[in-house]
Amino acid sequence: MAAPGFVDVHAHVVPSGDDGAASIEHALELCRIAVDAGTRVLFATPHAHAPWDRYPLTPARRRTYDDAFPVVRDAVAAWGLELRRGFEVFPTVLDHDVDPRDYRLDGTDAVLLEFPGWWLDYPDPIPMLVEAGRRAEAAGLVPVLAHPERCPAVSDDPSIVRPLAERGWHLCLNAPSLLGDHGGTSEKAAWQLLEDGVVTIAASDAHGLERPPRLDLAFRAVERRYGREAAVPLFDGSVLPWADRGAATVVV
Ligand SMILES: [Fe+2]
Repeated sequence: MAAPGFVDVHAHVVPSGDDGAASIEHALELCRIAVDAGTRVLFATPHAHAPWDRYPLTPARRRTYDDAFPVVRDAVAAWGLELRRGFEVFPTVLDHDVDPRDYRLDGTDAVLLEFPGWWLDYPDPIPMLVEAGRRAEAAGLVPVLAHPERCPAVSDDPSIVRPLAERGWHLCLNAPSLLGDHGGTSEKAAWQLLEDGVVTIAASDAHGLERPPRLDLAFRAVERRYGREAAVPLFDGSVLPWADRGAATVVV
């Protein structure tokens, strides 16, 4: 049976001066991998880190992204891949001076917020995420929370995310976590979150050839365990609050 047309809401596939695609050529190489693996809509989501972290969204980085994005978008459109803009936003970036809509996933009323990973010291990240999620909601957006399974507080106790899911916010696994690509702890947490029924989306969080933008392998793994009916909505973008679905209607 054919795979669905995947919608990938989290990928560092356009140059922005972060740790994702380093050049237009690199971006095209990554987008080719996405198309060949069945992705039809791909959101380019550069890091918008806190000012104290590695990749805050400086004016220079924004210019790099703004310049590169249309070049890559127009090239990959010929391959049947719809590239859209977005950002991966660290929760504290959504402070009083910021309009969350400036960071939304283009064509949706959703914003991708980053769960602090093991590389940051956040033993109690939920209040920070709730605060950012509330600001997003006040701006008419639904939060999509990236890689909860990579956060030690969550892998220690996956039940702490349930109140977020109960608000109608989307928990978005890194699909490679399901394959063990982020280590055994994240793999175990990812499957537990699925088992708990609190995850609604899986995305690639692609950063390069060693972390490519492909969803097909994780899709097959979920399909094997839970069946196609359960797997498809995690990967086809159908749960997103679309303002403009575009090619996301191309679902087999
Ligand atoms: Fe990311």
